[in-house]
Order: sequence, then C-alpha cells, then structure tokens
Amino acid sequence: MQHNTDILIIGGGAAGLSLALRLADTHHISLISKGILREGSTLYAQGGVAAVLDPQDSIESHVQDTLAAGANLCNEDIVRFTVEHGAESIDWLIKQGIKFTHTSNNKDYHLTQEGGHSQRRIIHAQDASGRAIETTLEHKVRTHPNIEIYEHHNAIDLITSAKMGKNNNNSCLGAYILDRKFNRVEVFRAKHTVLATGGASKVYLYTTNPDTSTGDGIAMAWRAGCRVANMEFNQFHPTCLYHSEAKSFLITEAVRGEGGILRLPDGTSFMKKFDKRAELAPRDIVARAIDHEMKRLGTECVYLDISHKPAKFISRMFPTIYERCLEYGIDITKEPIPVVPAAHYTCGGVMTDINGQTDINQLYAIGETAFTGLHGANRMASNSILECLVFAQSASKHILKQQQNKIEDIELPSWDESRVTDSDEEVVVTHNWDELRRFMWDYVGIVRTDKRLKRAKSRVNLLLKEIDEYYGNFRVTSDLLELRNLAMVADLIIQSAIERKESRGLHYTLNYPDLNTEHEPENTILRPKGFVEHK
Ligand code: FAD
Ligand code: SIN
Repeated sequence: MQHNTDILIIGGGAAGLSLALRLADTHHISLISKGILREGSTLYAQGGVAAVLDPQDSIESHVQDTLAAGANLCNEDIVRFTVEHGAESIDWLIKQGIKFTHTSNNKDYHLTQEGGHSQRRIIHAQDASGRAIETTLEHKVRTHPNIEIYEHHNAIDLITSAKMGKNNNNSCLGAYILDRKFNRVEVFRAKHTVLATGGASKVYLYTTNPDTSTGDGIAMAWRAGCRVANMEFNQFHPTCLYHSEAKSFLITEAVRGEGGILRLPDGTSFMKKFDKRAELAPRDIVARAIDHEMKRLGTECVYLDISHKPAKFISRMFPTIYERCLEYGIDITKEPIPVVPAAHYTCGGVMTDINGQTDINQLYAIGETAFTGLHGANRMASNSILECLVFAQSASKHILKQQQNKIEDIELPSWDESRVTDSDEEVVVTHNWDELRRFMWDYVGIVRTDKRLKRAKSRVNLLLKEIDEYYGNFRVTSDLLELRNLAMVADLIIQSAIERKESRGLHYTLNYPDLNTEHEPENTILRPKGFVEHK
C-alpha cells in the first residue's frame, strides 16, 4: 500500500504535535506513532517548561545558566535563539488551551526553580506539566481535518534518493512504515519528512523514560546518511523513585527547587560536600554525587526529603508524586523518598541547523531526537520541551517557505519480503535486548573507564552482527526494529564516549577525570560511511 502526503511526521510528542498544528492549515499531514499517540516522554514530563517570564528574570540570565550547565559546549547562537523564542512559545501553548498553575493570588503564573537555573523560570501545570501539554495538543490534532493519525505504526527506515541509486543531492522521499495491526509494511511518500521520535534512554537498564524511547529516529537518520553528534552525553536524572513495584517513576527536580534535601540512609545531607549550589547544582553533578555516595556506602538508594515543608503545600504542589508514593506506602509529607539516578535524556542526536534541517534534503529532525547545539555537554532542566516548541516553529517556517516543492515523480519500491520468513527464535530478540541494556548500564553509565568502554564496544559489535543476520532472515516486528535501533544507538554512544578523552558535563571517565583545556572544546561528530556534505 502506498500513501501520499505533504508532511510525514514521525512522532506524537511535544515536537511532533506542535509541528503538525503549525502546518495543518496549509498542508496534509500524516502523523505516525508507534503506540497510542500520547505515549512518549512528553506525557510524563513533570517539572515544566523553562522560559523568561518574570520581569526580574532576563534572557541573558537564562542564556548564561544554559551555557554553564552545558559545560562550555553549547552553541551560543542556538542557545540565544531558543531562549529568545521562549516566551512566545509559552504564549502559543496557552493559546492552544494549556492551563498552567497560577500563584496563590491568581495574578500570575507560578514559576518553579530547578537545577542550574539561577532564577525561578519554570512554568508548570502542578507536577504533571507534560500530561497537560500532550493531552491538550493531542485533542487539537485529533480534531483537525488535515491531520491523519496512524497509531501503532513503526517507522522502519527512510526512503532516500541516494538509496535508490540517484546520488546527486540526497533527498528524503518518505519512509517504510510497519502497520502493526495488519503486520504489513507500507510506503509513505512525502514532500517533507520529520523525525520527532524522542530520545534513546531505553538503551539503559534503568530509565525514567517510557518504552518508546528507543532511538529510532537517530538510527534511521544514521542509516540514511546523516551525521549524529555528542552521543556520549546521556543525562541521568538524579531522582527516580526506588521501589520494586514502581517502573521508572520520576521525582521532579522541582521538589529540590522547593527545598527538598538529599540525605544518606542515616539522615545526613551530603550535596554541599560536592557543590556550593548543593541540591540545585546541575544534574550531572547531583547524579554523580549520589552515585558516589551509593558506591561508597554500598547502599541501594539515597533519600529525598521534603517532609519539613507543610503537608498542604506538598500535596498541592506535587499531587501526582504524593498520590503515587502513597500507593507504595510512602507518605512524602512525613518521610523521605527513596531515590536512585536513572537514564533520562539523550543530549546528542541527529545534527540539524536552526530550522531543524538535517544533512538530507526534505528531512527534518526536531525534539529530543535532534542535536541542535542547545544542550552542550549537559541539558539544563526544563529546556527540553522548550527546544521541542521552538524548533517545531522554526522547522514549520522553513517548510512553509518551500511550498512549491512537488513530490518527486520517482516510483518508490515496495518493501521486499521475498527472502524472509516468520521467526522461530524470538528469544534472540529478548535475550539481546536484556544483554544490551545491562552492559550499557554497567559499562557506559554515570562513571566510565577506557576498559569498560572497550568491553562494551566488543559486545555491541557481536550484537550488531547477530541482529543484522536475524534482520536479514526474518519478518520485521516492532521488538526487532527497536532492538536493531537500540543496538545501533548504543554503538554510536560507545564510539563517541571512546573518542572523548576528557571528562566534561555528563561524560565522566576515571581515565581522564579533568577537562581537556589544551584545545577549544569540540562536539563529537560521527559521519556515516561515505558521508558527503551536500550543502
Ligand atoms: P517524545 O515525547 O518522546 O515522543 C516521541 C514520539 O515518537 C512518540 O509518539 C513515539 O511513539 C514516537 N516514535 C518513536 N519512534 C517511532 C517510530 N519508529 N515510529 C513511529 N513513531 C515513533 N523536559 C522538560 O523540558 N521539562 C520537564 O519537566 C521534563 N520532565 C521529564 C520527565 C520525564 C519522566 C521524562 C521521561 C522526560 C522529561 N523531560 C522534561 C524531557 C522531555 O519530556 C522530553 O525530552 C520531550 O518531551 C521529548 O519530546 P519529543 O516530542 O521529542 O519526544
Ligand atoms: C524534572 O521535572 O525533574 C524533569 C525536568 C526535565 O527533565 O527537564
């Protein structure tokens, strides 16, 4: 089956939905998500969106905080561009109907503070900001006549002119998409294709992310011939609830912003020992401090304590966390919360320019899947949804300028299944999935060494070979596609980590524990085989 559309948007999070809404009045949109539309990291975001909204705050202050958190590796022009578009992005969200929390006198929006921010500048909807954003935009998208939604559809690979043997000026012509209900692969031909597939934190055993975060967009873009950058910078959120029944439940950094204190099992607070900003130091520092203390004491978790604040304030500010913890028998108004760090955010990704344009014509990448240069070596809290919104806007403007583009008149080949059969060994997929995520956690986690990275590299090489053989012989399934992408992204992370001979931001290695000050800091740019810069 072949579909024709103006814009193919792969991903239904903050990035994909806001782009769809910005283009739908003039274009036909096909919006693809591999599960139900709302399932993705955006839905689970708690803290909110950073933007300069308080007259006491300034663009310069938000810029400087972002640059400092990014450990001198952010692209300052991109930081300024993003921060300058912050207030108008929030305004756009409010116009879409998102109800942010007000101050108690109802006059202004309430702003919280998180790690790395020197000011209160996080606008939020209690502690469920992502849910408010995702569900409101979802409603708008579902009721727009120009947007066709394809849920339970996995994008497999991009269709490019280069892959079809037309090598001059590589362009994206659409994608192969697996319709999971009918188990068939369909061709989507599009004038413009947008990867808005989120991050890759599922590459680690413990993560705050939902199951959708398997790095599909990064892997697809890499296979199609795009450069990726800074994949070694995986952010670990310091405070994920530690409880045997809680699967990846985050305790927002805003709890620390409102006075929460990190404590060891004996009740001692410890963050001041590591950074003068204590609980409000950037995430890399807090996560590493917790990891250090857990390893030093051999404990399974540390504790986050907000119980000294009035119970009413806690349950009003953090109703989701309060209720959820209570389900597990933890009353956060009376006792500390057991927490551990977990993989949270992929700072690297598909390289794009200020318009979200990748190395391939007519192919864009926005949101967590992209590398714009905003985050440097460490993303500052609540700058991510901001990036989704700002780059959805700039990509939409860029696409609108190119309205005259016609769909190329090339016949796109159907998906070839002539040489594959149904798998009789699904265990290969589950086994490799577990193995990959465990060695990434053990060898490529918060603290790295040359030896661990070397071990990880030889394991990932074996897995890639095995997965490749399996992929060549058996019909594709969602699990197989995700495993193939995760293994590819793991390889990109390991290669990038091996290349960086210093500790900077989120990349910390015992072999090079300091910053390399001999050279100007550089991004780690990986180029696919035969990469030719077309622009
Ligand atoms: P996502 O929201 O992850 O959406 C990805 C979409 O792509 C999904 O619809 C998925 O189905 C689809 N997809 C993926 N692969 C395929 C494929 N192969 N085929 C078809 N569809 C595909 N950031 C902040 O700024 N503030 C916060 O308060 C905050 N809190 C967070 C709390 C949690 C628990 C988590 C996990 C993250 C948080 N973040 C926060 C980070 C932020 O939520 C994400 O970076 C951001 O929402 C990513 O949006 P996105 O649109 O790029 O991707
Ligand atoms: C949080 O609420 O702590 C997460 C914020 C973020 O990831 O930006």
